[in-house]
Amino acid sequence: MTEQKKRTVFSGVQPTGNIHLGNYLGAFRNWVALQDDPNIEPIYCIVDLHGMTNPYDPKDFEAARLETAKVLLAIGIDPDRSLFYMQSQVPHHPELAWILGTVTPMGVLNRMTQFKDKTERGVPANLGLFSYPVLMAADILLLRADLVPVGDDQRQHIEMTRDLAERFNNRFGEVFPVPDSLVPETSARVMSLTDPTTKMSKSDPNPKSRIDVLDSPDEVRKKIMSAVTDSEPTVRFDRAQKPGISNLLEIMSACTGRSIDDLAMEYADGGYGVFKEAVAEAVIAELAPIRSIYQNLDDADVARILQRGALDARTKAEGYQQEVRDAVGLHRQ
Ligand code: TYM
Repeated sequence: MTEQKKRTVFSGVQPTGNIHLGNYLGAFRNWVALQDDPNIEPIYCIVDLHGMTNPYDPKDFEAARLETAKVLLAIGIDPDRSLFYMQSQVPHHPELAWILGTVTPMGVLNRMTQFKDKTERGVPANLGLFSYPVLMAADILLLRADLVPVGDDQRQHIEMTRDLAERFNNRFGEVFPVPDSLVPETSARVMSLTDPTTKMSKSDPNPKSRIDVLDSPDEVRKKIMSAVTDSEPTVRFDRAQKPGISNLLEIMSACTGRSIDDLAMEYADGGYGVFKEAVAEAVIAELAPIRSIYQNLDDADVARILQRGALDARTKAEGYQQEVRDAVGLHRQ
């Protein structure tokens, strides 16, 4: 029997605010599950260089980088099974971004919606923010990922990564695999609790709009009980007419493993109050283990885990990057 080649998984998160239920259900649950697959080699990265494209305070940022690592460990990222590190500690990421930038047409970057969305919301239009998707492509291609588990909002970036991998390979030879995205069927786009027509987001100034994975049971209950819904009393799934209820049905389905149809049938006529209480309890049960593991994590241990990860990632990256340098005419001398 021939041995199956392992598939490399890569994904990242910006350390720019508390990790919320959208991040968790859209991406991190998949990250954790992929660790159990013997044919997968998982790599997870805190993309702090990306985080610098938003306005930030260096002191808060320092704390947020470590905090993000702690929460990911509490969620179940296992550094013995996954390569887990901080992007800024592996300078091959920005080096590869520069090289990929030389095969990125301006027109391709101009079509990226995140830059437009963020600058319209008041984020300063700096070069880092504009070229963000090129650094993201470098993240994915650096260690030759085949599969990228993300939420729905990252699809356009993965499409661009595929495009850049192909452009590079056509120009310099077959160096990069062309990666696929892995987006969950339900909860790929968890919506805001206060405006269910927009996605749940770390940057929403209203904390009631999202559930943070470390929220207490009381906070979760309050936020879900006050989630914006509609005035028709029936619980049913209809994204267009009933975005709030549909979002809660998706969240409950993701937390319980029960189908949306099944839940809609059970709660159809019981009233929104009863339904919301059930959603809150399902979310509380799902998040309980994360809170308890988080409370027992030690900062110094977390820092050591990241240092070990960075060392391993640098070693791995150096080998792969030499292939790129050779291909583009940057031989060692
Ligand atoms: P970030 O930090 O915004 O989010 C981390 C992950 O959470 C997912 N996500 C959601 N999923 C469902 N519903 C939501 N409301 C929701 N909000 C966020 C995101 O899709 C993401 O998977 N550009 C990336 C970071 C990045 C990256 C990479 C990802 C940089 N380099 C390389 C993958 C591979 C981002 O800002 O994710």
